[in-house]
Amino acid sequence: MKRTTDCGALRKSDVGKQVILNGWVHRKRDHGGISFLNLRDRYGITQVVIDSAEVAELSAELRNEYCIAVAGRVRARPESMVNPDMATGAIEVLAEQLLILNRSEVLPFPIDEESEVKEELRLKYRYLDLRSAGMQKRIRLRHETAFAVRAWMSGQGFYEIETPTFIRSTPEGARDYLVPSRLYAGKFYALPQSPQLYKQLLMAAGFDKYFQIARCYRDEDARGDRQPEFTQIDIEMSFVGRDEVLAMTEGLFGHVFQKVLGRTLPAHFTRLTYEDALERYGSDKPDLRFALELQDFAPFVAAGGFQAFKDALAAGEADKAAAAAKGITVAGGGVKALVVPGKADYSRKQIEELEAHARIYKARGLAWMKVGATLEGGVSKFFAPLAGDILKGLGAAAGDLILMVADPRRRIANIALGAVRSKLGKDLGLTGPGADGLPRFEFLWILDFPLFEFNEEENRWEAAHHLFSYPQEQYHRVLEQDPGAVKGDLYDLVLNGYELASGSIRIHDPELQQRVFNVVGIEREEAERKFGFLTNAFKYGAPPHGGIAPGLDRLVMLMAGETSIKEVIAFPKNSFAVSPMDDCPGEVDQKQLDELHLAIRKST
Ligand code: AMO
Repeated sequence: MKRTTDCGALRKSDVGKQVILNGWVHRKRDHGGISFLNLRDRYGITQVVIDSAEVAELSAELRNEYCIAVAGRVRARPESMVNPDMATGAIEVLAEQLLILNRSEVLPFPIDEESEVKEELRLKYRYLDLRSAGMQKRIRLRHETAFAVRAWMSGQGFYEIETPTFIRSTPEGARDYLVPSRLYAGKFYALPQSPQLYKQLLMAAGFDKYFQIARCYRDEDARGDRQPEFTQIDIEMSFVGRDEVLAMTEGLFGHVFQKVLGRTLPAHFTRLTYEDALERYGSDKPDLRFALELQDFAPFVAAGGFQAFKDALAAGEADKAAAAAKGITVAGGGVKALVVPGKADYSRKQIEELEAHARIYKARGLAWMKVGATLEGGVSKFFAPLAGDILKGLGAAAGDLILMVADPRRRIANIALGAVRSKLGKDLGLTGPGADGLPRFEFLWILDFPLFEFNEEENRWEAAHHLFSYPQEQYHRVLEQDPGAVKGDLYDLVLNGYELASGSIRIHDPELQQRVFNVVGIEREEAERKFGFLTNAFKYGAPPHGGIAPGLDRLVMLMAGETSIKEVIAFPKNSFAVSPMDDCPGEVDQKQLDELHLAIRKST
């Protein structure tokens, strides 16, 4: 009883054919003497009719998810029974023979899209969850996306080259997963956080254009868009500057969206500098599906009577002057405003909710005013004489709500109000489909990131992206004196408010690389020990190079309209980095530990 066709193929033109179908019982309905089976496989669902006594006897036992073979004849459904929502809705197969290939126990949850099933249960029985139409569709989307990526990259002359997944532990931002060595007591391999160093070595090796659909491993807390193991479309190119990498990436996404979703993307994506993104949207990954821009309220502060705003700016100025005396650039204070059109009817409770959200991002509060005949409520009494100027300056009109955050650190004012902007985008349904009813995809480049970030807890500079990004030429002079001012040849690609890809032009000069190491406190000897293999490679005519790495999981998640990458990964970990299906991570035998020279410390 080998199948002659699949469960999604039969049409009216097949009526009269003798066929064998293999698949799973999706649903069974008994109507007196006749029963109907919906038989399902990867390709679709076909209705099977059981009407003869011998077949009925066997079919009596059938339950959902039994795996069966059915032989029979295709016939047209009566006109009134035609189902236009099903590809096979015009026909049915009259069963003549039935074979149970495998039985199914009672299911832990039904395989359909309507039932709400707890995530933990879905992950425990992932092989059943994967049978659902939604998961099948998303895994197909993932396959088609990866396939389109490979086809385009290969067509552009990129080689797909695998790099090791057992590597030397090298600091790259997150924590490494380590693999103990049996042969060398006390030594460890690390799983790569990304193939970063290897792709640079491939450039030193003259491969010119490389890509890899690469597994990456990072021991960090899971989030909706983050998993401990994930997949990157890792790319590197020689003899290129930033604009070539951006153009290549635009070409790649243009191809993938056309091929997989039939959507035409703009030939070039919007570009914003990091600084502008923070000033205008309060985020380095703003969702441009809606406008709502942050505006500068500082020009109204001096003439107004609100002391908290004045204090924030004054404290910011003092910090700025103190830093300048040490030759360091800091931004000073900020008072930023967001005009929310037509939301003057927001209740106190709704505003308090927004304020609580702003506080998560370190805002000291969220000031507000409403626009009626003039400025009303909240802090409006301090700005009454300036109402005309404020409304004109901010472009606010009657019925609008004005929200404000002030902070001695301009970055906090921006980021906290930016977080309020994002929340409003969701709350007000501004991220929905476009006029054509289709999901919108707003790509955005963020350029000119700072090369270093100050780690306040550890009181030291660290790389904002990774250690190998090229400081823009004009900052080479001040690299050591004013690391905070240095911008890198660094870029991120943002899609609908998610960081989809990061990349940079790399350092290929060993001396410049050591200067960057010095800023983050990696002395020559330590650098030699940790990265000697890379810096040595640079000594033998390594070409200028750069690249980028889009996250495949995030890409497919956004294409599928989902908000969790677990929905597009066949076997993901849960939010606690655990796989409930195979109970991983798990304990190992004492013998294995002994071989690896490991002892487990009893927790106290
Ligand atoms: P970065 O660390 O920014 O850059 O990662 C690049 C992209 O990988 C995806 N990503 C993740 N996806 C799921 N779960 C995670 N835990 C996770 N972490 C990252 C994101 C992100 O934009 N080597 C550099 C790239 C380069 O410079 O070429 C790198 O790994 O989509």
